[in-house]
This record gives sequence, C-alpha cells and structure tokens, in this order.
Amino acid sequence: MASAHFQGRVALITGASSGIGRATALAYAARGAQVVLAARRESALRDVAREVEARGGRALAVRCDVTREDDVARLLHETRAAFGGLDVLVNNAGLGLYGPVEGFSEAQLRRVFEVNFFALVRVTQAALPLLRARAPGAQIINVSSVLGHRGLPLLGGYGASKAAVNLLTESLRAELAAEGIRVLLVSPGLTETEFRDARLHAEGWRQDTIPLRAMSAEAVAQALVHASRRGHRQTVLTLPGRLMVLANRLAPGLFDAVARRIANPAKAP
Ligand SMILES: NC(=O)c1ccc[n+]([C@@H]2O[C@H](COP(=O)([O-])OP(=O)(O)OC[C@H]3O[C@@H](n4cnc5c(N)ncnc54)[C@H](OP(=O)(O)O)[C@@H]3O)[C@@H](O)[C@H]2O)c1
Repeated sequence: MASAHFQGRVALITGASSGIGRATALAYAARGAQVVLAARRESALRDVAREVEARGGRALAVRCDVTREDDVARLLHETRAAFGGLDVLVNNAGLGLYGPVEGFSEAQLRRVFEVNFFALVRVTQAALPLLRARAPGAQIINVSSVLGHRGLPLLGGYGASKAAVNLLTESLRAELAAEGIRVLLVSPGLTETEFRDARLHAEGWRQDTIPLRAMSAEAVAQALVHASRRGHRQTVLTLPGRLMVLANRLAPGLFDAVARRIANPAKAP
C-alpha cells in the first residue's frame, strides 16, 4: 500500500483529464493528498474524481481552460473554497507540435506557447498567494520534456516552448527559495498517452511510430511524486532521454549528427 506522505495536503494538477496528469492525480491521492483536477474535458475529469473517491480519497474536478484568465481565477477560487489552501501545484497541461520550422504556422506555434508556457505562468501567478500561505513546504512542479533540453528536428516548436519552461523554472526557483517554496522540473521522455493524438501538425507532416519504448503514464507519475516527496530539483525520464541530455551536454556537435539520424520521419503523402 502507498505511504500517506501527503496526508492532508492539497495538490492541484492541470491536464488531469488524461495521461500523465490523470496518473499523477491518482498517485498523489494514493499518498493521502486531496486533489484538484483541472482540464477542459469535464466528463473525463469527473471519471478521475470518481476513481479517487472510490479509493477513499477526496477530489475536486474543475473545468478549466488554462489559456483563459477567468477560468484560472475560478480554478483557484474553487480550490480555496473546497480545501482551504494549496500545497502542491503541478503544471502539467500541455500540447505538442510536429513538423519542420518552415512548415508550422505562426498560429500553431503561438497556440503551443499559449498552452505550454503562458498558461503555466498564468496558473503559477494565480496560485502563488495560496502556496505562500502554506510555505515553507509548498511546491510548484513544472512538467517539461526531454525535448526542452535538446532540440530535435521536427520538434523544434514544441521543444522551444518547453525550453522556455525550463529557464522560467530556474528563475522562479531562485525567486521563491527564501520563502520556502520549492520549484521542481520533471522532464518526461516518450510516454504512452493521448499526447500524439492531440498535438498539432504542420501541414503534410505526420509521424506514425517512434522506434523507442515509451514509459507508462503511471511510471512517470510515480517518478514525479517521488521527486515531490524528496524535493528533487530536476528529474529527467527514460533511459534514452537521460542519455540524450547527457550526450548533448558532453558533445553537442556529435549529438547534432546523431539527431539527424534518429529523427527520420516519413512525410505524409
Ligand atoms: N506523452 C509524452 O511522450 C510526453 C513526453 C514529454 C513530456 N510530456 C508532457 O507531459 C504533459 C502531459 O502530457 P500527456 O503525455 O499526459 O498528454 P495528454 O494525455 O494529451 O494530456 C494533456 C493534458 O493537457 C490538458 N490540456 C491541454 N490543453 C489544455 C488547456 N487549454 N486547458 C487545460 N488543460 C489542457 C488535456 O486536457 P483537456 O483536453 O481535457 O483540456 C490533457 O489532460 C504535457 O505537458 C506534455 O508536454 C509528454
């Protein structure tokens, strides 16, 4: 049985209707946390809430488009009204973009930055008053990607939005350290979720299979909650993901050549 390390704590997870966010909400709840579930698909959120409650936990499902200021304000208002505060914010909601820099539109790129970066800033700013009231000990966990640490062909727009998250995370960590609010970064590698179905594609570009083994959303969630429990500042996931980040640090020029070989997608007819 999972430990009750987060007993009595409140964890808010954006993008909790599927994939890593859903699994993360269940993992926090299994360790005693009360969870706030935020995403746009209300019925999927209610299913997750029911799963939490069936296992004896408490959950609040809030329909929220994180790109909308009024939705985000309501999310934090409802969190305070239901649970009286917030201990852990997991900024997980995300959107992918596939295709060459030449091929994606500015509107697609702006949308991806809106969800992955600007909304993360918006939710963080809105949550800070509640997190401050629970400091020391409060946490912000930003879900990035291994692609935010190293650019790969056809994933540059998405990777750039995650690289922006990485740098923002470092700044925020320093800004909030004295107040006792820890800021963590979790960078999953390839994970088995709905992510590739939902992502945007530059016109004519599709990618059917990736020749790598994906992690399960549950395994990513376990690693995230472990990092949260231990306060690990940075977690990079999947062995290929870790190797990529390491190889890029040690020999970026050499990794440019590797990147050209490993990213060899088929262009849709
Ligand atoms: N899967 C991977 O291989 C992988 C690898 C590295 C990093 N990641 C990152 O992991 C995070 C979770 O992705 P996932 O793999 O679990 O994919 P997913 O199953 O597609 O989950 C994405 C979540 O984000 C939510 N979301 C998207 N736009 C939103 C919006 N405007 N407002 C509120 N919620 C929104 C979706 O909910 P609604 O549609 O209901 O709003 C969904 O719950 C993302 O940040 C992603 O970049 C994924």
